[in-house]
Amino acid sequence: MKFTALLSLAAAVCVVSAANTTDPCAALANEATAKAITLDTTRACYNSFKFDKEIAAKTIESLENLWTNFYPFIDSAQQHSGSPFVTPKVNLLAELKKIKEHKWKNDYEFHNALHLLVASLNDGHASYSPGCYQSVLIRQPISLYAPVIDGRQDVRVFSASSSFPGVPANDITDCVVSHIDGKPAFQTIQEFADLTSGISKDPSVRLADTLAATLWQGDWFATVGGFSARTDVPKKNSMKYTIQCPKQKVQKIDVPYYSQPRFNAGAFTDSKSYWKNLCSASPPASKKTNGDHKLRGINGDKLAPATETLLARGVEKIGGSSHGPKDGTGSAPAPAIISHATQVSSTANALFYILNNTKTKTGVIVLNSEEPSQTGYQDFINGLTALQKAGAKKIILDVTFNGGGSVDYAYFLNSLFFPTAEPYFVMDIRSNKYVQGAAKIASAHANFGSLFDARNYENEKTHKPFTDSSMFTKPVTMTRAGRKDTYSQKNYFPYGPWPKASAFPWKASDLSIVSNGWCGSACTMVVSRFNIVHKVKTYVIGGYHKRPMSYFSFPGGFVMDNTDLVSEIQALNYTAKGAPSNLPTSADARIPVGEIYASVKTNTPLEYDPKFFPAQVHLDFDAQTARHPDLVWLKIAADFK
Ligand SMILES: *[C@@H]1O[C@H](CO)[C@@H](O)[C@H](O)[C@H]1NC(C)=O
Ligand SMILES: *[C@@H]1O[C@H](CO)[C@@H](O)[C@H](O)[C@H]1NC(C)=O
Ligand SMILES: *[C@@H]1O[C@H](CO)[C@@H](O)[C@H](O)[C@H]1NC(C)=O
Repeated sequence: MKFTALLSLAAAVCVVSAANTTDPCAALANEATAKAITLDTTRACYNSFKFDKEIAAKTIESLENLWTNFYPFIDSAQQHSGSPFVTPKVNLLAELKKIKEHKWKNDYEFHNALHLLVASLNDGHASYSPGCYQSVLIRQPISLYAPVIDGRQDVRVFSASSSFPGVPANDITDCVVSHIDGKPAFQTIQEFADLTSGISKDPSVRLADTLAATLWQGDWFATVGGFSARTDVPKKNSMKYTIQCPKQKVQKIDVPYYSQPRFNAGAFTDSKSYWKNLCSASPPASKKTNGDHKLRGINGDKLAPATETLLARGVEKIGGSSHGPKDGTGSAPAPAIISHATQVSSTANALFYILNNTKTKTGVIVLNSEEPSQTGYQDFINGLTALQKAGAKKIILDVTFNGGGSVDYAYFLNSLFFPTAEPYFVMDIRSNKYVQGAAKIASAHANFGSLFDARNYENEKTHKPFTDSSMFTKPVTMTRAGRKDTYSQKNYFPYGPWPKASAFPWKASDLSIVSNGWCGSACTMVVSRFNIVHKVKTYVIGGYHKRPMSYFSFPGGFVMDNTDLVSEIQALNYTAKGAPSNLPTSADARIPVGEIYASVKTNTPLEYDPKFFPAQVHLDFDAQTARHPDLVWLKIAADFK
């Protein structure tokens, strides 16, 4: 069986040493037990695995098949992007070839190169995550943000824990950070964001993903941002900051990173068991057989990679100490983040408030995902009803750090606010010869929910499900970045039925949207529809001062991982050349499948349609609004006519 073959392959890669004193991963295990992991040890463990040609070849073949057959933006990614939404041109397959030909020092460097290649797409749905080399969360005890104070934007300290070595005992909160690691702070941070964030075509949103901010995740917390909580191993063991506090001398501090294990105690004892338990491929998880869209593979149980990364960074109490990744242990009472609003309802993924003392009574919905719990649909209706009963004449929808979720739930929200309009998004799917072959088999059998069975999609022209494979087998040719490729006919997912709701009184002009740009995937399907079609006013806060900023990111399509696609093809017994194959290690590769369009009239996918990106109003954070979202809501409420 495949699994056994992989284990023997794994054994060949391991550095096997006689004494555990010289085994780098034994040292990591020992340090984790002693709760004092050093970067040198992490680095030594990661670097101890030799580059393995066989693993590399299998990994590359697997990614090549995944991207060639299914990644809808493989051509679009090769086009120039204009300012202000700057993203590099990426020729994924050419870069993959370069990685194939490069002589890598070790296995870690090989996998990290793939990881960074996918991040360069700036598509929060796409990832290559080498689980083997993400077993430690690497932290700085200082988190940063970029407020605009007295008309000037600086990098400043959002929070600092003085109990860590290198952090001054005096309070450095809100002090200006002029330089980091010898370069202007903004430059160091943006270079890091552009290399690793991968969330958005907008540098401002990548900045937001990298810095600290307030967020609601079942409670009000702060996220420290990617710059202060990362999984890639930095070159140096500490970070140097030049800090200017008011009326004080400039301080130069050197702050060591500290590490938090993301593995369980006893997960491994040495390099051999590290490889076996954390790096070698695990057998594919068994699939659920039905999901949101009657499609096997799409169960809403796969998060967008960007969302997973956000969750993995963990949360902190504002001004308080680390909780690590959110695990329900955070029980200390939160400081009053929200004091100018009264909560009238809540669901697992949303809060409903009435703002105090606004000219017009204004409700606020904080929506942090489109993940519906068992009762999520009805709960949301109840929340809106509570706002209506409380007399809300206007509503602000705050989707800050909303990482998406179920497409059906997004459509439900569209339908709830705009019941007479179409709630869905038109999309298409790559449909080359390989996909067409799968589609023919799928529609020749009883419908078991195959991704490739056109009968599971509504025809955008007839508004009825396709009855044969023609959605795929009579494809449409699109020209992207000068390359012609075939895509399926336009379609959308069947949706509903949803719980009934009475009509709510709010019109588009009674609504406003606000985000920090970090609103991805299904979140996009709500806010971009509200704005583009219904003209709901949009606000974005943060990013770069005086520069247009996107209020959403990674609209893409729907996320699937390589394992899902392998299982979709296997279920069809489809054996044509080019089949996706399982990755030979514990790495996880995700892509959006399908590409959505702002409307049926355009052939430019929303992911690459920057005219729709900028919010109408770009606000800046200051020291207060960055910590108290209700102060932002009050500003927005004051704009309602
Ligand atoms: C070897 O590993 C064991 C188990 O982790 C540990 O108890 C022991 O102290 C280690 N030996 C040395 C010499 O580090
Ligand atoms: C807002 O209203 C709530 C409920 O009446 C009250 O507890 C709170 O103190 C008010 N906040 C402010 C800032 O007035
Ligand atoms: C694939 O093969 C399995 C095992 O022979 C069979 O049960 C299944 O029906 C086949 N599926 C299709 C779509 O042909």
